[in-house]
Amino acid sequence: MVALQENPLRVGLQQDRIPEPQILVIFGASGDLTHRKIVPAIYQMNLERKLPPELTIVGVARREWSDDFFRDHLKQGIEEFGSGIYSQEVWENFAKGLYYCSGNIDDPESYQKLNALLSDLDEKRGTRGNRVFYLSVAPRFFAEATQQLGHAGMLADPKKQRLVIEKPFGRDLGSAQILNRVVQQVGDEKQIYRIDHYLGKETVQNLLVFRFANAIFEPLWNRQFVDHVQITVAESVGLENRAGYYETAGALRDMVQNHLMQLFSLTAMEPPNSLDADSIRNEKVKVVQAAHLADLDDIGNAAVRGQYTRGWMKGKEVPGYRDEQGADPNSTTPTYAAIKLHIDNWRWKGVPFYLRTGKRMPKKVTEIAIQFKEVPYVMFQSAAKQVSPNVLAMRIQPNEGISMRFEVKTPGNSLRTRSVNMDFRYDTAFGKANTDAYARLIIDCMLGDQTLFTRGDEVEASWRILTPLLEQWDAPAPPDAIPLYEAGTWEPVEAELLLNRDGRRWRRL
Ligand code: BG6
Repeated sequence: MVALQENPLRVGLQQDRIPEPQILVIFGASGDLTHRKIVPAIYQMNLERKLPPELTIVGVARREWSDDFFRDHLKQGIEEFGSGIYSQEVWENFAKGLYYCSGNIDDPESYQKLNALLSDLDEKRGTRGNRVFYLSVAPRFFAEATQQLGHAGMLADPKKQRLVIEKPFGRDLGSAQILNRVVQQVGDEKQIYRIDHYLGKETVQNLLVFRFANAIFEPLWNRQFVDHVQITVAESVGLENRAGYYETAGALRDMVQNHLMQLFSLTAMEPPNSLDADSIRNEKVKVVQAAHLADLDDIGNAAVRGQYTRGWMKGKEVPGYRDEQGADPNSTTPTYAAIKLHIDNWRWKGVPFYLRTGKRMPKKVTEIAIQFKEVPYVMFQSAAKQVSPNVLAMRIQPNEGISMRFEVKTPGNSLRTRSVNMDFRYDTAFGKANTDAYARLIIDCMLGDQTLFTRGDEVEASWRILTPLLEQWDAPAPPDAIPLYEAGTWEPVEAELLLNRDGRRWRRL
């Protein structure tokens, strides 16, 4: 049994504070993210009374929709993708704060029209000029929308006007630097919230608590005791009708540069001096700046890509990537990527960090596994003929929890050992659903807390690591240049070799 106590470490937790009345302006309001994630999450927070009653949402997109049509569209999204808890009374109040404004991202007049609507709504709804502009549009529009907002004077007040930018922030180092410059020309870094929904996941935040609120792990968290680290984000889903975006992104841009690098930096960073946003972000940036692909001269030794082919998932046949709607039949877009990183600092020199992610893997699982060194001398017999090293695994999702693998004596007269797991599960200990990642982050942004958002220099540091690889993988290549794996199986064999060469193996999850 795990005894629960008030945790002494509060990680940017301003959750109990209710933000000031404000208007959330969502660009890309007719898109999937708004419909499936953002608005259902906000509605749930409204149900839980975590938002001010004056909260107003204005959706902006090209289509000519009416307010009522927009409300019906969002209601259907809440019913289909929300938590399942619905109250007609709460919905009616919530719906009164939903508005729609059609407009074009590159049209200055659209911003004049929007600005006029926002001023009217300030009067009508008492939102006092507080605004969050959320760019949930295709990444190629981030710069244009930011510039237009700036020219229209809509980001002029750093205390009241904030800008949320979805991922991926840039396509490589050069474009991320340009985008950072655009953003910093029109606003202050304090207004900019580069969102990565993995940072809103409860178990990701728990990494900091686990590392820095417990005395027993930190002394082991270094090159003296750790053999290597594996970070896995496996997904069972495939392309999900997102070919238009995914064909230009691929696994490195879609998952590694952001979600996996966040898990990496939180695992590898030094303890921050305090919990304010910049202390934490400074440490994250430092470790990412110290990291690089394990072999820069021969990138094949440091990275492997893959693409799924036709296969079976849960007894159902699923198409290969190239047969998905909208995908190029000769596409070499990676749906799988594995990289090996080294960190040049005192804590981690010589300890490889292996990161992998893929779509159409046998199951959805995200975990960080710290594998410790072997004992210096084995004097026992084990069922597996060798004593397995200890592994500390942090399961980010699903079955959120932490487990520690260690050796025990099997019952009987002989002195044999076997590996067992000591397991902590969030649901058994706390018994309640976690706050939705988007909801958590949107509330933090409304409260002006940037801790769980990525700073400009951190984004650039992670692109710096991946850009040499992107240059190779983006180069035109024949269809057989990319290793293949069957949907419903783990990685391509080439990815196995990435670890086998080092005498290691990927964990079977
Ligand atoms: C998104 C990616 O950022 O994260 C998707 O664009 C991916 O391709 C998703 O499926 C995974 O998020 P989660 O929260 O389901 O692990």
